[in-house]
Amino acid sequence: MFLKNAWYVAAWGTDVSSELQQIRILGEKVCIFRTDSGGLIALEDACPHRKLPLSKGRIKGDTVECGYHGLTFDCTGQCVAAPGKGDIPPNARVRSYPVHERYGLIWIWMGDASRADTDDIFVIEHYEDPAWGINRGASMDIKCNYLLMTDNLLDPTHVAWVHQSSFAQDAAKDAPLSITKKDDGVAVHRWMLDVEPAPFYKKIIEFEGNCDRLQHYEVRYPCLALIRAIFAPTGTGAPDDNHHDQTFIMDSYNFMTPISETETRYFWFQLRNIRPDDEDLSDMMSNDVREVFEEDVIILENVQVGMTEMTTPNIDLSIDGGQLGFRRQLSKMIAKEHEEPVIRQ
Ligand code: FES
Ligand SMILES: [Fe+2]
Repeated sequence: MFLKNAWYVAAWGTDVSSELQQIRILGEKVCIFRTDSGGLIALEDACPHRKLPLSKGRIKGDTVECGYHGLTFDCTGQCVAAPGKGDIPPNARVRSYPVHERYGLIWIWMGDASRADTDDIFVIEHYEDPAWGINRGASMDIKCNYLLMTDNLLDPTHVAWVHQSSFAQDAAKDAPLSITKKDDGVAVHRWMLDVEPAPFYKKIIEFEGNCDRLQHYEVRYPCLALIRAIFAPTGTGAPDDNHHDQTFIMDSYNFMTPISETETRYFWFQLRNIRPDDEDLSDMMSNDVREVFEEDVIILENVQVGMTEMTTPNIDLSIDGGQLGFRRQLSKMIAKEHEEPVIRQ
């Protein structure tokens, strides 16, 4: 079950060109491309005649021609040319999805097009801020339901077991979690005080000695996450919002797009508050982060199988509060959407 009235990431902007291509989102097939005049278009990827995907056809100027019998569709999905001598059938149209390019990503609205408002796209603080560096991200497909990923991204505790050589530190791994329910999502955070910096961060931070570390894990509906890591020299008051010159902040953006109930496309990148122009640092962080995410993939794909094929009931723990609250609210939102009349363009 998916929330339709929401912006999802369809692709990296650099991966969409004037070649027709099919992407699958929420179980739907979408044909996405740029027109000769640079417009960004996403159409239902199924010709209404014999359902050949439009992505198997051709771009003709600002239209797409079906590769089977030539029905031709404009950017709104309306058929504008038909083969033979007959008129264009009134129902010869395909669905057109609102799309918008921002932050180097193509965002797509999968629900009622009249409700799509680009002001509702996830806001990325410090994007293109000259004081902040960016680790250009990547994407990968993971064979699991997207909610296993939202679970994972509301769970600071898993780091101690899954990412032992990178993000984890042994001390304070049982520090208590605080859960904040917001209108647009859930955040789980904790401070770990006077601890040795974890190996991944030790290579980056610009101070010696122990740190006060924040793990802030926040997922917004339906499946867009901000993971904020703060490492401040210990005792400098970071938990009270005091900022020290050497405090390191990394904002990790993690956007999940369900492909189907059992597959999710994962997009990510990070922003950091130090050495914005240091490309070597960006490359090192990008590579390390990818390795860390590969550790999550092994867990998530195995949990997907385990939860699907379980022969005895699973249990919940006290650390699961944020995830369970998120799931409850999202399923209410999805149920509400199903009660509303569907208006499709
Ligand atoms: S299948 Fe597209 S025109 Fe026939
Ligand atoms: Fe992880």
